[in-house]
Amino acid sequence: MPIRVGYLVGSLSAQSINRKVADKIVELASPNLEFTEIPIKDLPLYNHDLDADYPQVALDLKAAIAASDAIMFVTPEYNRSMPGSLKNAIDWASRPWGQNAFAGKPAGIVGASAGAPGTSMAQQHLRNVLGFLDMPTMRQPEAYVQYEEGGLDTERTQAFLKAWVDAFEAYIGLWHKATDKVV
Ligand code: FNR
Repeated sequence: MPIRVGYLVGSLSAQSINRKVADKIVELASPNLEFTEIPIKDLPLYNHDLDADYPQVALDLKAAIAASDAIMFVTPEYNRSMPGSLKNAIDWASRPWGQNAFAGKPAGIVGASAGAPGTSMAQQHLRNVLGFLDMPTMRQPEAYVQYEEGGLDTERTQAFLKAWVDAFEAYIGLWHKATDKVV
């Protein structure tokens, strides 16, 4: 059985460099991992008045997370944090209270920006959120990608991303073994 990895890309841009990184990771991953993007772009802004009557798009988001064995977050950095679009999706998936879809799902974080910090601040903020949401999150290796045109095709970057996704696969396996979950 493949390990089902749902992934969220925290950018709504058609030219997103983070989606390019996600695509490259999917391409480099072993066949044991089956990746599915969990879309976030059509979610309205979260409003707890709707907790008793979730919109279908938010129910779909929660169902896609529930159907995943692990979650990969691919985040841009906006003003030294994660984009509001990603935080909004996380808020929807975490509610109603007591029905957090993320609980117990192993997580990995990657991010790309053109700057040298390579989304490190956004990723640290995201780690804080995922800790609260009870997601065991891979600590090492970290993946702060400084994106430049053509850079994803270099041997060095591909080796780096391949090592990251292989480590994530091992982390998911370890976590599921520890919790007796058969994947
Ligand atoms: C940015 N960008 C940016 N980059 C960075 O390294 N640190 C930052 O804090 C920010 N802040 C920021 C805020 C806003 C509102 C925008 C629109 C952009 C630049 C950002 O990394 C760049 O636009 C990337 O291309 C965004 O990723 P996607 O959307 O291409 O995946």
